[in-house]
Amino acid sequence: MEKAAMMINARRLFKDISDLPTIPAIVSKVVSMLDNHDADPDEIVDLILADQVLAARVIRVVNSPLYRTGNPITSVKRALLFIGFKSIREMILTSYFVEGFNHKTQPFDMKLFWIHSFSVGAISRRIAQMTDYQDVEKAYLAGILHDIGKVFLGHYCKDEYGHMLNSIRNTSLTTYEAEYESFGTTHCEVGLCLAQRWNFPSGYCEVISNHHSSEMATEDPLLAAIVAVADFYCLSHVTADTVAQASIPGQSEENAWNVLNQFAVEPLPSSLEHFLSALEEEYETIRYEVDQLFNTMTD
Ligand SMILES: [Fe+2]
Ligand SMILES: [Fe+2]
Repeated sequence: MEKAAMMINARRLFKDISDLPTIPAIVSKVVSMLDNHDADPDEIVDLILADQVLAARVIRVVNSPLYRTGNPITSVKRALLFIGFKSIREMILTSYFVEGFNHKTQPFDMKLFWIHSFSVGAISRRIAQMTDYQDVEKAYLAGILHDIGKVFLGHYCKDEYGHMLNSIRNTSLTTYEAEYESFGTTHCEVGLCLAQRWNFPSGYCEVISNHHSSEMATEDPLLAAIVAVADFYCLSHVTADTVAQASIPGQSEENAWNVLNQFAVEPLPSSLEHFLSALEEEYETIRYEVDQLFNTMTD
């Protein structure tokens, strides 16, 4: 089916939903400003201070074990300087995403879902470094957010989605393929609708929409390829999110691998399989980071 037809089906699922979690407009604005490399730091601090809940959240996270600040940080400006503007963007958006969906019941294990999401984020960041991607933290955040459409489908189409997941256990069908058969759309198109509703910057929208078809990415093909390879690694080597997945790379993963090779600044292993096993050596460190982040975000 054409992507356009899948988008129509995804929008249909959204039509009658009135209790969709929202991200406050001010948060979208702060994230867009932080995406703009010429943004004025003082203006961003003022915006954050205009929202007490957001300001309190920034202070809480900067003082969490993740950042090991030593002395308590009590001002938003110092928090921004300490964490860095790029990381603060990722922290704000991720914490709203986790909070928005954390208490929504699902037909799958939400903890596994978050571990998968944060693992894909951490692996994406590592691949971004290896390919000299210009915004490593953006790759990290895009990795965390890539599967948001699953949370929507799992909550708002709970019975059908649960039935679908049960039906593919012990089969070679992937979640993506099964979603398409059941809904005529997948978590990619649904995730894009959600990301657009939340006014995510377009680079993130493209990854959410194309992480299973990264060859379709036009705005930032390297970012889509990074997340596609990280996702494949996590599904086949580390953590399944909703059900176990096939571990043989398909055409989409091979395409993503070719894109990574075009951009690599350090020699990459000879094949995608070798590359994935090289990442495993770093997995202990990555898993530690993920545990720390997971605890901070779900406090
Ligand atoms: Fe996915
Ligand atoms: Fe995924």
